[in-house]
Amino acid sequence: MGSPSYPLTLDLTGRRAVVVGGGPVAARRAAALVESGALVEVIAPFVCEDLAALVATGRLVRRERDYVAGDLLEPTAAWLVHTATGDSRVDAQVAREAEAARIWCVRADDAGASTAWTPAVARGSVGTASEGLTVAVSAGGDPRRASAVRDAVLAALESGTLPVRRVRPSTSAGADGAPAGGAGGVGRVALVGGGPGAEDLITVRGRALLAAADVVVTDRLGPRGLLRTLGSDVEVVDVGKTPGNHPVSQERINELLVHHARLGRRVVRLKGGDPFVLGRGGEEAMHCLAHGVPVEVVPGVTSAVSVPAAAGIPVTHRGVAASFVVASAHEGADHVLAAAADAAPDATLVLLMGVTRLAETAAALVAAGRPSDTPVALVERGWTPEQRTTTTTLAAAAADAEAAGVRAPAVVVVGQVVALREHLGDLSGSSVTA
Ligand SMILES: C[S@@+](CC[C@H](N)C(=O)[O-])C[C@H]1O[C@@H](n2cnc3c(N)ncnc32)[C@H](O)[C@@H]1O
Repeated sequence: MGSPSYPLTLDLTGRRAVVVGGGPVAARRAAALVESGALVEVIAPFVCEDLAALVATGRLVRRERDYVAGDLLEPTAAWLVHTATGDSRVDAQVAREAEAARIWCVRADDAGASTAWTPAVARGSVGTASEGLTVAVSAGGDPRRASAVRDAVLAALESGTLPVRRVRPSTSAGADGAPAGGAGGVGRVALVGGGPGAEDLITVRGRALLAAADVVVTDRLGPRGLLRTLGSDVEVVDVGKTPGNHPVSQERINELLVHHARLGRRVVRLKGGDPFVLGRGGEEAMHCLAHGVPVEVVPGVTSAVSVPAAAGIPVTHRGVAASFVVASAHEGADHVLAAAADAAPDATLVLLMGVTRLAETAAALVAAGRPSDTPVALVERGWTPEQRTTTTTLAAAAADAEAAGVRAPAVVVVGQVVALREHLGDLSGSSVTA
């Protein structure tokens, strides 16, 4: 493609397009033309397997013979021709006749002698932020280069890092909270597990849904840094709770989700860790479903496993612990004891929300028979630049936590696996250790 080109998108629906040739290149071209809705005619004495399969679907017409002069004009003039016969004389003849009849011609054998070129194409996937998007890449007649760039674009589309969100007309609720029109029916809610805090520990699906959201209802924990990547028209509702401070009740959060979805919006409920691990995600999902709002869940990397890992503490380790128990310490020591009661003696105990009642919990575990020298780790703000780990024992946990000024959010790990940290050290790659 030596001369300057003029990129254009064609509507070939119901229009005649001719493919001359029966090999794999012709098969690919014919398949793409069929998908575009063109009336496709293949002229070839022989066809490869792929093309034969396409012919068998009845979605195109095949002339089982060589190309003959006038084929581009009979029975009606074609709008476009692809020639890929493998015989340059035939391709040149097709190109000449196309030129004379003012029909755009793509030549597989000689891009420089073509009057049209097919770009490498990436299309957004249905149901994602990129739905309805077509990206065409042209690289001056170098199809491999174009394909490589197309693949990179595809990867970026899937990762949700491109600003591909379709901007919908804004809507406002009527007095009764019903859709005010323009949004096209009820929206949906995605409960997205954001992981423990690092921006790149959210799943690819969660990231893509976030990029497509009209409204994001976010927690205090999780990858809040991603919020600044959202467009200025995305409504961010911060319902983050700090310990002892509950600015937005669970009922209100449930109502918010339903309210925005009913306005036809794509709502992402961005949560720390995994939505269904001590995250009340189940309640939110039930509330949405009970109000006729479609809901989906995207699992997240839970802090229960990932925060100990960041501190070099595997929750299980061959020969040390073959199971682990995750419990909330928020409800009090009895609850923790009940959760640990049926666990194996070597099971690791992972406590979330365990800072406030640490003294009470540690004392209860010792009273219930756990050795007072059982290793304990308090891992604060895992996967953030402020990550800090304090190691201690059940007997000394409360005093050491106070002396170190340990604050929520922190994961408390109780068990022999804590000692592995001496060998592994911090593994998060971005931590600060006390
Ligand atoms: C309400 S629970 C939510 C847990 C979340 N659904 C999950 O799967 O990780 C909040 C608790 O998770 C723990 N947590 C969450 N993210 C943390 C982080 N980055 N570092 C330390 N602890 C964290 C703390 O124990 C915090 O009090």
